[in-house]
Amino acid sequence: MNTLYLGDCLNVLRDSVADESVDLIYIDPPFNSKRDYNIFFDDKEIQSQRLAFEDTWSLKNVLDSLHELQTMRTENIHLLLAVYQKVAPHAFPYLVMMALRILELYRVLKPTGSFYLHCDPTMSHYLKTVCDMIFGKDNFRNEIIWRRTPFSGSSKSRAKQLPRDHDIILFYSRNTTELVWNAPSNPYSEEYLKRFKWKDERGYYRKTLLKTYSDETLQRLKSENRLIEPVRKGAMYSYKQYLEESKGIRLVDDVWADINMLNPVSNERLGYPTQKPKALLERIIKASSNEGEVVLDGFCGCGTTIDAAEGLHRKWIGIDISPIAISLIKRRLHHTYKKSLSEFEVRGTPTDEQSAQRLWKENAFAFQDWWITEFEAFSATFGTKGADKGVDGIALYAMDNKDATARVAFQVKGGEKVQSKDIDALLGAIEKHKCDMGVFLTTAEPTKPMLDTVAGAGFVKLPGFEFPKLQILTLKDFFAGKRPKLPSVNITFKAAQHSGRKKENQEALEL
Ligand SMILES: C[S@@+](CC[C@H](N)C(=O)[O-])C[C@H]1O[C@@H](n2cnc3c(N)ncnc32)[C@H](O)[C@@H]1O
Repeated sequence: MNTLYLGDCLNVLRDSVADESVDLIYIDPPFNSKRDYNIFFDDKEIQSQRLAFEDTWSLKNVLDSLHELQTMRTENIHLLLAVYQKVAPHAFPYLVMMALRILELYRVLKPTGSFYLHCDPTMSHYLKTVCDMIFGKDNFRNEIIWRRTPFSGSSKSRAKQLPRDHDIILFYSRNTTELVWNAPSNPYSEEYLKRFKWKDERGYYRKTLLKTYSDETLQRLKSENRLIEPVRKGAMYSYKQYLEESKGIRLVDDVWADINMLNPVSNERLGYPTQKPKALLERIIKASSNEGEVVLDGFCGCGTTIDAAEGLHRKWIGIDISPIAISLIKRRLHHTYKKSLSEFEVRGTPTDEQSAQRLWKENAFAFQDWWITEFEAFSATFGTKGADKGVDGIALYAMDNKDATARVAFQVKGGEKVQSKDIDALLGAIEKHKCDMGVFLTTAEPTKPMLDTVAGAGFVKLPGFEFPKLQILTLKDFFAGKRPKLPSVNITFKAAQHSGRKKENQEALEL
């Protein structure tokens, strides 16, 4: 079954993906450049993604991973990384972590499979040496230059250098002869098609003059019923050039300048900072897999690979360490393909009170993100403005008739105790962020004064219905199926889709 995993791809691959079971892998890991991280790992505040990242990529982990590589009979990789430790210390931790994960990805790839690694010029040359060692240099197929945009960046990015406009996609296969390969090609231009204006039982053709020819060619064309007699004496023969056999289609080469990155008002945009265009993934998936085959993305973000694979009738496996990513993909599949949760599996997210408590203890920020995304709220740390006391997430809801919307603030509290000041902070945040109501999510039982605050907060009137201004939901009640009273339609996702177009909705995602 198609499966989404919440977790570090290293663990998920090891625990859940069999050897040689995947036809195509695409990964787009963080690039080890500030440009790419800083939205997730903003320095201003400790953010959930940052913590998840630091957990996975901390120095201790790096050294453990290096040791692991040494014991995995991967001496050459270990040797290469030891050199990078000396000559490129800035890249070393990243390369160790990536090497371990690429080794696992190699293990799960079928002998006919292909691997695409999306990176940028700051890391591509290092990563290529690592991939050469893992896949074998002869299995390197292409370095694809993806020109992200025809516009040449900010004046800062152009200062005393050429504008940096491209990413790099390294393409490897497991062997050179058996790989699945459907050469991508560009469609015919309208102008070119217009030339094929004649038609017979074999299809559309154009008339091409036969300038030089041998008797043999003339006879062959005649016997194939393709020869067109000269219109008058002394004129030249022509022959029927069929559209089917025409060389008019230009093969796609390794420089891709025809797919632009998503613009800020693109309908495809979900608000995920590093989202790639679906057309890019469609090209890769069509080229290196067939219908029914398995596509895996180990750093799947908001699920561009998953969306493209689903649309192209491939099976898929998506892995991401961020609960926000997993939540967005669930909504994306529902929105695009009307997929219900029963049509694919989600693993790694808490399924009962114990597993939720475990997540809280392991990574409080991931827990917080997981819980608010259950209500389709966007994390308040998701933008660039950092965390705020009293509110962890915000969602936009509408009544069934969609005439009235409500902005709802969510606050998550883990641990064995909660205090009155926590709910007071939520009440303050509701006012500050111009929300209509608030939901307090807690792993502990609320105290009497907290319940009094809730009772005293009163109600919010929306057309035809009243909602409590403050509500409390415990983890226990959540898993017992209880839910806060909220308007029936969550429109946060749609708001994200059209962010940039409708200011009011955009604000739901920004505090
Ligand atoms: C550049 S983004 C991928 C964007 C994606 N291609 C898209 O179109 O949405 C990188 C993703 O890697 C995830 N990530 C970082 N470390 C990870 C790990 N160890 N295992 C799985 N995912 C990880 C991040 O949460 C982030 O979503």
